[in-house]
Amino acid sequence: MAKLVICDHPLIQHKLTYIRDVKTTTKDFRELVDEVAMLMAYEITRDLPLETITVDTPVITTETKVIAGRPLGLIPILRAGLGMVDGVLKLVPRAKIGHVGLFRDPETLMPVEYYVKLPTDAEERELIVIDPMLATGGSAIAAIDVLKKRNCTQIKLMCLIAAPEGVKAVQEVHPDVDIYLAALDDHLNDHGYIVPGLGDAGDRLFGTK
Ligand code: URA
Repeated sequence: MAKLVICDHPLIQHKLTYIRDVKTTTKDFRELVDEVAMLMAYEITRDLPLETITVDTPVITTETKVIAGRPLGLIPILRAGLGMVDGVLKLVPRAKIGHVGLFRDPETLMPVEYYVKLPTDAEERELIVIDPMLATGGSAIAAIDVLKKRNCTQIKLMCLIAAPEGVKAVQEVHPDVDIYLAALDDHLNDHGYIVPGLGDAGDRLFGTK
């Protein structure tokens, strides 16, 4: 089974409190999500491989480390995933971005792809699927399916808040995918909202409510 990492750094937990607060304005919500995404990126990139190169400092020639291995790709799930992209990019500015858009079929209730645009070399990259809320897990599972169907194999999932139901569902279908969260909440309510959660992440990010 892949890793489940709760990013419990005090700065992340502090900022998450204000993200949850219903009184937080759209502007502040957006800024806080951006900051938490950046801090989480520090944790998500912790296991990137390094290689040794030689550089000339002003004093001597020395061996030192740089990041090696696969380049990164960020895959926000539309639309709320967009709110976390810039924060991650602050730490990994060369990452390429792919987008996955899904809607829920009203009859089958299954996620259906309506938009997929990936970096042309996606299968050679380490991909981070981004969605702030892991509720039932349906969208995350479908987005990871989209990537695996296109021969991508190195995939991580990054969310702000998850319900245990969503984590379990992703781990059952995609046991190879590491999951990174800022918080694992209590449960899903009858309307599909994470409790205590933060409400509708897309609406709060884009001010559409
Ligand atoms: N999506 C959201 O934006 N919020 C939830 O609580 C669950 C799914």
